[in-house]
Amino acid sequence: MFEPYRLVLPIVWLMSILMSPLARSQSDPATIIATGNNRGAPACSQCHGADLNGSPAAQIPGLRGQSQAYLVEQLQNFADGKRHNPLMQMVASHLDEADIHALAQYISSMPIHNLVSHRPKVPSLGKMLAEEGDPVAHIPACLSCHGPYGEGVAPYIPFVYGQPAPYLRTQLNAWHGGQRPDGFGRLMNNIALRLSPEMIESVSCYFAAFSADQKATSGCPIPVASHTDLGQEPENQVKSMQQKIIDQGQRIFDDTPANASAYAWGGLSCQNCHLDHGLRAESAPLWAAYPIYPLYRKKNSRVITFAQRMQNCFVYSLNGKAPVLGDPIMVALEAYAQHVAHGQKIGVFLPQHGYPPLSKPALVPDMQRGQQVFVQHCALCHGNNGEGRRSHLNFRVFPPLWGDDSYNWGAGMSRYGTLARFVFANMPYTAAGTLSNQQAWDVAYFVDAHERPQDPRYTESVMQTQKLYHQQTDSLYGQFISEHQLGSMPLDIHP
Ligand code: HEC
Ligand code: HEC
Ligand code: HEC
Ligand code: HEC
Repeated sequence: MFEPYRLVLPIVWLMSILMSPLARSQSDPATIIATGNNRGAPACSQCHGADLNGSPAAQIPGLRGQSQAYLVEQLQNFADGKRHNPLMQMVASHLDEADIHALAQYISSMPIHNLVSHRPKVPSLGKMLAEEGDPVAHIPACLSCHGPYGEGVAPYIPFVYGQPAPYLRTQLNAWHGGQRPDGFGRLMNNIALRLSPEMIESVSCYFAAFSADQKATSGCPIPVASHTDLGQEPENQVKSMQQKIIDQGQRIFDDTPANASAYAWGGLSCQNCHLDHGLRAESAPLWAAYPIYPLYRKKNSRVITFAQRMQNCFVYSLNGKAPVLGDPIMVALEAYAQHVAHGQKIGVFLPQHGYPPLSKPALVPDMQRGQQVFVQHCALCHGNNGEGRRSHLNFRVFPPLWGDDSYNWGAGMSRYGTLARFVFANMPYTAAGTLSNQQAWDVAYFVDAHERPQDPRYTESVMQTQKLYHQQTDSLYGQFISEHQLGSMPLDIHP
């Protein structure tokens, strides 16, 4: 009997033999970089430098170590004429898909170098934008996505540190003027639209200053040595002991594992769920919380103090250990909270206390729909498996949503109703308010239907623990999701 599919394999094999020498010479990335390909693409090193560090004098960006998916997208955009630059459009028009993917993979695996590893110290508008953002203009800190030094987060977010200032300025202006195509999640388009010319100028100089090559900052203001550079604080900036403790409290709040490592070692910091240093109105701000404690709390069945409320977040939300009352860490956090609550009325409940309320969804939350929302609106930053993402220098930039490093089964966030309220008001980061009520409920259900660390109140069995602590309708602890009982798993195994 004639079976045509039996012919397919030998034909594929024959073709691969016939084409392999050709294919290899076309797509070998090291060769293309050094000498170009045989279809007219020039050597990348001609312009980007032998080691692909770029050429600041010619305003040509560095490439080595750049994020892979980002490189693919840029080369395709140049080839399609969507991203405009005569030189690169010419180069990319001579690359085929195989060349593009091979080059992106090869270049992204090269280690980055030639950079100064500390942040520019001299105060400037750009430094403020990069490190703090501008909440009034709705501009998030550049470093909150690009990593603490602007070093990029694989695979989507490019490094920007050390790139020539004129190059960065051109890119931001192109987005601002609608001439550079939408990137991942349209994140940069939206941000660039809010940047003024002065901001673009200054922030480009800030990132260029990471380069060891002075030419990268040509045209930028010459840095004036600040007092702090000289190792002295000016008279009027000598900080009181009180202010030092407040600052320490903020550091602990913003990066808990780094500043309270004995009590938090997972993937989360206080700021991840209480955004903008605990100041953002929609994410249970400290200034609305501090004045209302001591307060009766159902979960604890008693009146608890503000410090005890923070202890709860250490144990459940951070999946860590609570410092004892009076510990310098607790004192610093409380001093910071009191500082930001200055002027609020004691004992008065503000509408901003806690996460904002959210009406019930029209449809019962659903796993499949939730997964779709996750893939489309969350995975870019939080990872395809909810594991979060780290930068090229291994700093955690995007926090995990489930797994060992996430909040545990005792945390408020593990109730999908609470998570939905947070997500609806705050996520996607930089595009809050774009999800529908239904999408927020669906994605919250999906996220909280994944395994995470055990409830620290665990007794005897999952059933017993569920009975004691998980009677709420929006807790999935102890429920079966695709035949796996949530809460019942050793933690290194994730279904
Ligand atoms: C004739 C000079 C020239 C050559 C050759 C060249 N490039 Fe470029 N490349 C540029 C310039 C100029 C830019 C900046 C474009 C802009 O301002 O948008 C650039 C930008 C890029 C970017 C965008 C970087 C980013 O951060 O967004 C990529 C990717 C790139 N080049 C890859 C390559 C590769 C791969 C090759 C070799 C196949 C190559 N280039 C060869 C001049 C060149
Ligand atoms: C919400 C996350 C996010 C924030 C915040 C953010 N970026 Fe970006 N940035 C991105 C992504 C994603 C890309 C890749 C865009 C693409 O795919 O085209 C990018 C690309 C860039 C590029 C292009 C780099 C190149 O090589 O061409 C520049 C420049 C840049 N960002 C500067 C900034 C500045 C300056 C800020 C702060 C004002 C900032 N970004 C804030 C996510 C972010
Ligand atoms: C552009 C990147 C980005 C996107 C897209 C995004 N997030 Fe986030 N998310 C963040 C960042 C950054 C934080 C931490 C905020 C901080 O520390 O200031 C965060 C924090 C969180 C947190 C609290 C901390 C944690 O990990 O438990 C949850 C929950 C969360 N995001 C869920 C989501 C969901 C669900 C979506 C999709 C609807 C989403 N995020 C989309 C960047 C993003
Ligand atoms: C995984 C997310 C998450 C993390 C991380 C987290 N929290 Fe919370 N926090 C919550 C949730 C959820 C609530 C309850 C919000 C509500 O009821 O609407 C809360 C409530 C609070 C409250 C009470 C707010 C009020 O208005 O009564 C304080 C204070 C607080 N957290 C402090 C902290 C501190 C300090 C840290 C770090 C040690 C921290 N949180 C870490 C999720 C988190």
